[in-house]
Parts: sequence; structure tokens; C-alpha cells
Amino acid sequence: MRKCQFNAVALVFLLVAAKVYSATPAVVRPGVVWLDDRGQQIQAHGGGMLHWKDKYYWFGEDRSQSNDPARRYVSCYSSRDLVHWKFRRQVVRLADPEHLDPKWILERPKVFHNPHTGEFVMYAHLDNGAYSLARVAVFVSDRIDGEYRYLKSFRPLDEESRDIGQFIDDDGTAYIIFESRPTKGFFIAQLSADYLGVEKRVSFLKAPLEGGALVHINGLYYVVGSHLTGWHPNPNVYATAPSLSGPWTEFKDIAPPETNTYGSQSTMMLKIAGSKQTTVIYMGDIWRPAALWDSRYLWMPLEIRDGDLRLPPPQNWNLDVKTGEITQKQ
Ligand code: GAL
Repeated sequence: MRKCQFNAVALVFLLVAAKVYSATPAVVRPGVVWLDDRGQQIQAHGGGMLHWKDKYYWFGEDRSQSNDPARRYVSCYSSRDLVHWKFRRQVVRLADPEHLDPKWILERPKVFHNPHTGEFVMYAHLDNGAYSLARVAVFVSDRIDGEYRYLKSFRPLDEESRDIGQFIDDDGTAYIIFESRPTKGFFIAQLSADYLGVEKRVSFLKAPLEGGALVHINGLYYVVGSHLTGWHPNPNVYATAPSLSGPWTEFKDIAPPETNTYGSQSTMMLKIAGSKQTTVIYMGDIWRPAALWDSRYLWMPLEIRDGDLRLPPPQNWNLDVKTGEITQKQ
């Protein structure tokens, strides 16, 4: 009887907490701590986003302090409004899959859905502690928020690959963009039909950049990247091309260089094609190298016009995901 009462009280508490959480205003606040539906700090660093059946699924590095230090974790969250994030699960809790070393790394996970096989395929950067392995790791799951099974690792196009970004073009074709240090640049490469391999080199941009992100809007492709300064922010830059294969323009700053991209580093550009307007959101990480679990997120709608791209100074904003319209908030 007492146990039953306790369960009822706990249930009411959870329902009230969920109601309060979903009733909080849908405002994106760059740089502050973002909490999920459990009240825990969101762990989706160096992340990617997949729009699937009316929800956004955000995947990223889970750097929780409570994680087993021998394993590497990827978490998945879902949201309809890009503000209220429901924790789905740690979709990866991987022990060193290639006998690397205790400091091995798994970073920048990105998930694709293959419409032909029905599978969800995750790419991530796999490396040893010295960052000299330079491979991608591939995982699969038959559910978007299922447990992703480690499949293999390799060097895409036989090139060294460190930071990776994901891109799905308007025709549904899936690509990764990866940084290759020996060749000093970004490769844009198409995934194979089953998405389990990297098949075709589409472009090579000779510029030593990482944190690659791509978007296609109003007939132009925009690529954003950061310079190679590790966890420390630097002036991120962009270039454009009429086709993914180029020709690409020179790189220009996305924000006043003295702001160092307002302390952030690019991970993805998210295109929201609403009924009234198309909005592109810059997703950046504000890294805290001494406390990675407390790294923050800087998301801002980009100002994009006729080949110009600008990241405005961070401020609070709100998005109507149906219309694509943005409102500035206090
Ligand atoms: C950055 C990179 C991060 C992480 C970090 C480690 O350059 O973008 O994903 O690898 O270096 O120092």
C-alpha cells in the first residue's frame, strides 16, 4: 500500500515536472547551460542533427562525468522545437574497438538514415590518443535511438580523416566532409549506396580547416570550417560554390575575426525549410577543455544572402519550425 502511494506521488511529480518543462518558453539561449527533460545538462558535443518523422534527433559526444573513462559515449536527444530536448539514450557506449590505447577518441558523431536499407548509419571520428590513426568509425542501428552496433573503421578514400561533418543534399544524397591534414584541406565525399562506405570524392578544398559543415540554399553551396587550433576558438570561415564539386571561392570570415566566432567552433549547419522562409542555423560548440562535460552550445540563425554568410552576435531567439520564421527574444 505504502509503495503504491509512493509510486503515485512519484508519478504526479514526474507529470508536473514534464508539464513545467514543456511549458517553458521555446527560446534558444546561446552559451548558457541547456537542460534536457530530466533536468540534466545536454551532452551532444561536436554533434549532428537528423530530421526524422517530424522530430529533430540530435546526436553528439556525451562527456558526462559519470561515464566509465574506458568507454566512449554518444547520446541522442529528440525535439520538435529545437528547444525542449528529450533524452532518448546513450546510443553508443563503446569500449576501445581497435585495441588503440587508454586515451583513444571517438568524436563528432553524425547519423544518416538510408531510405533504401531502412538502417540508421552513424559515422564518427575514431582515433588513438595521439590522433595519428585518423579514421572514421561506422555504426548501424535499425532504430534511430537504438543501440548502435560498431561495424568497422577505415580511412575514407584512403586519406587521413579527423573532424567529420555530415551533409544531405536536397535530392537526398548523403555526404561526409572530412579534414585531411597531410593534404591540408577538406574532402567532400559521397557515401556508398548502403551508406556503409565512402565511395566517391566530390571535391577537395585546399585550405587547412576542420569542423566542416555544409548547406545548400538558394542555388549555392556554403561550406564553413574552423582553423586548426584544437579546443581553442578561432575565426571560422566560409566559401561558396554553385556545385558541390566547385569551383569554390576563397574563404572569408563568418564573424568579426576578433570575436573568434564568439568563442565557438562549427559542427553543423541545419536548414529548416519552413512554409514562409528557409532558415539556416549555425550549430557551434563552445568547448571547455578542462571540463568538456560543461562545454556549451552556440546556435544562431545565419544571415545568408547572395553568396554572403554572416553569423550575428549571439542573442536569444525563437524559431517557428512550421514557418521557418525567427524572432529575437530577451
Ligand atoms: C579540435 C577538434 C575537436 C577535437 C579537439 C581536440 O580541433 O575540432 O573535435 O578533436 O581538436 O584537441
